[in-house]
Formats: sequence, C-alpha cells, structure tokens
Amino acid sequence: MKIDVVTLFPNICAASLGESIMGRAQAQGLLELNIHDLRPFGTGSYRKCDDIPYGGGQGMVMKPEPFFDCVEPLRTARSRIVLMTPQGKRFDQAMAGEFARHDHLVILSGHYEGIDHRVVEHLVDDEISIGDYVLTNGTIAASVFIDAIVRLIPGVLGDERSATDESFSDKNLLEAPAYTRPAEYRDMQVPEVLLSGNHAAIEQWKHDESLRRTRCNRPDLIQSAPPDNDGKGPEA
Ligand code: ADE
Repeated sequence: MKIDVVTLFPNICAASLGESIMGRAQAQGLLELNIHDLRPFGTGSYRKCDDIPYGGGQGMVMKPEPFFDCVEPLRTARSRIVLMTPQGKRFDQAMAGEFARHDHLVILSGHYEGIDHRVVEHLVDDEISIGDYVLTNGTIAASVFIDAIVRLIPGVLGDERSATDESFSDKNLLEAPAYTRPAEYRDMQVPEVLLSGNHAAIEQWKHDESLRRTRCNRPDLIQSAPPDNDGKGPEA
C-alpha cells in the first residue's frame, strides 16, 4: 500500500510512524509512506498557507492553493483522498478494514480553524474524524488513522491471528483481560482457570470476562450488537 501524507508538520508523522511495527512495514516494503511538507506550496514569498475567514469569525482558515498544488501531482484514478477533520465521519475498526483494501491513500491533515471548503468539495473523497474531541493538529489524527489501517495489511503483524481475535474485530465485545508470568506477584494471583490447561474452561472464562468488561466499559456495544446464532444477542 502507498500512503502520501500532506501536512504542515511532517516531523510529527515521521516520528510516530517511523518506529516499531509501522517502521518495519516500511522496511519490508509492505507500506510506502511519503510525507509531504505543505509549506513550500504556500503562496507568496512567505509561503502563506492560511488566511482570515470570509464572513468573519475566529481563527485562521487553511488556503486552498497549497492543497490543490501539492495533491494534484500525487493522485491517480485509483487514489482515495482523505481529510482528517473533527467534522468528518467517525472512524472505527470496520472503516479501517475498508481503507486497508485501497492501493493508494492521500491523507490531508488540517490545522487552525479549518480548511477552505473548496478543498473538501473538489479534492477530498472522505472526511474522517478519529473521535468526538478536537485536537490541535490533524497530523496526530492522521498518524492514528494510518496506524489502524496499516496493521490490517496482510503480513504487517507478525502473528496474523492477532488482528482477528482482538476487540472490535468481529463480535461487538472487548477483549478479555490478559496475564503473563509470574503467576503470583505481590499477593496478586493470575486467575486459576488460566493455569488449568482446560481449554474449554479457559474459552468460557474469556467469553464471560469479555462480556463483563464490555458491560462495564462499553455498554453501548452490547446494545448495538447483532443477535447471536440463538437470536438472543451476546448477553445470552
Ligand atoms: N483534527 C482535530 N481534531 C480531529 C479529530 N478528532 N479527528 C480528525 N482530525 C482532527
């Protein structure tokens, strides 16, 4: 997969996506990540990328010219152009799976109070928000978006199972708690059943704990869950 990121803060993306699994995906050729500094596409001798809003109001708005000039040479008929914005559709695991199937993403990150709407109307395919809160910088959102997508590309995670067994992967349940050695630490014990070697009992425990955790932390997921095979939903 090829991803082009367009940002005024290239170092933020380079730092967060250069290490660990994302760094390895690039070294292995599974991800080609190109980070483009928007500043040289700014207008005038100051390379201006923002200006005051028409109609008044607070803050600055990002100008259209730098985005069009930077993105047009990058895109092809197969590219998907995504704008990171708190005004976008809320990103989730299902969307990550859909974006992971594209060959080429061009990701635009905003700053200041917004982006000239002609960019949204005439350049962008998808407006995406990573959650119902506002960050100072869309480049942080772009890094989150890219990480969630790239880890779903076959071969990026060492153990292919780890992307399918996790929270949000298929069922509307959070993952069960995990433990590792030592079995006892400062009087805190690993649950007995996990040491038992009884696989059926372990699976049952994981399912029960998954449900308990979901009810406690994310009851909304239980409400929106599709019915189980028995038609009674995941609580049955
Ligand atoms: N820029 C600022 N806040 C954002 C958010 N929640 N999602 C995407 N881009 C953003």
